Amino acid sequence: MRILLFGANGQLAQDLKVALTEDEVIGLTHGEIDIRDYPAVEAAAKKHQPDCLLNTAAFHRVDECEDQVEPSFAVNAAGVHNLVRVANQCGAVLVHFSTDYVFEGVQRKPRVETDAPNPQSIYALSKLAGELIVRRYAQKYFLIRTCGLYGRAGSGGKGGNFVETMLRLARAGKPIRVVSDQVLTPTNTKDLAEKLAPLLHTNKYGLYHMTNAGECSWCDFAAEIFRLAGLTPDLQPTTSAAFGAKARRPAYSVLDNLAYRNASFADFRPWQEALADYMRTAKP
Ligand SMILES: NC(=O)c1ccc[n+]([C@@H]2O[C@H](COP(=O)([O-])OP(=O)(O)OC[C@H]3O[C@@H](n4cnc5c(N)ncnc54)[C@H](OP(=O)(O)O)[C@@H]3O)[C@@H](O)[C@H]2O)c1
Repeated sequence: MRILLFGANGQLAQDLKVALTEDEVIGLTHGEIDIRDYPAVEAAAKKHQPDCLLNTAAFHRVDECEDQVEPSFAVNAAGVHNLVRVANQCGAVLVHFSTDYVFEGVQRKPRVETDAPNPQSIYALSKLAGELIVRRYAQKYFLIRTCGLYGRAGSGGKGGNFVETMLRLARAGKPIRVVSDQVLTPTNTKDLAEKLAPLLHTNKYGLYHMTNAGECSWCDFAAEIFRLAGLTPDLQPTTSAAFGAKARRPAYSVLDNLAYRNASFADFRPWQEALADYMRTAKP
């Protein structure tokens, strides 16, 4: 397959480039193409004649999105609509990523693909709008909801990833306060990329939840990072209310990879194993 990859400098995109060994992947960075620019997206598709448009681009600085409604929807919804239009024009499949944050997170049970979303922030609303555009307009799509991503490349938009941020704070000897009332599944972008590759070579189109297995709070996640790194910083749990982030986040946003298993793929490994693997191989 010839794949046009949007947001190519991001952490998930970097691991996708490695995982999609059977394919010709043409990476387009934010600097090269902004997905809000319809003529640019159309021209790239005309030039490269892709079989697949793979979109990792997003505006996902969750707290900033609260004050930046238009830019959030411009990238996460209107930009996605540009990709849908172009994918349909060239008969290509669209692959797009969404988020666990589309769920309200009150129910303490992993969510399956058929559960109703109820987004609680501008970021989550804009991502749900993007999902709905894909599901309503795209002729062929894989829509992937994932959660708590960390990868070797780090998220440029967020100034790194959670693992590296925790290690940096610990090495600086700072007291570390991390919320214990938000439960998620940390997901290694390498695992997501490797699990996505075989799915993309099928025609089992649709909505999929794809995360590592298990669950933990952000504070438990931090504790496991420090345990694996052999560090003993001053780590204390805090609450979302005390932390005072601008955007509301779900208290429980664990996803069940039901559709992926039903498509006859083996489920992901536990998040602790994926994290240990990352810590072994990541740059110091
Ligand atoms: N990170 C998470 O924990 C998480 C959780 C659930 C779902 N997701 C979803 O997973 C996907 C990948 O996330 P990620 O963590 O890999 O993100 P990332 O590392 O921040 O990568 C996103 C890339 O998209 C680029 N970009 C931003 N706006 C763009 C635009 N308008 N046009 C073209 N490129 C643009 C960014 O460039 P600049 O840095 O130059 O802006 C960046 O290189 C996103 O859809 C995100 O919503 C992420």
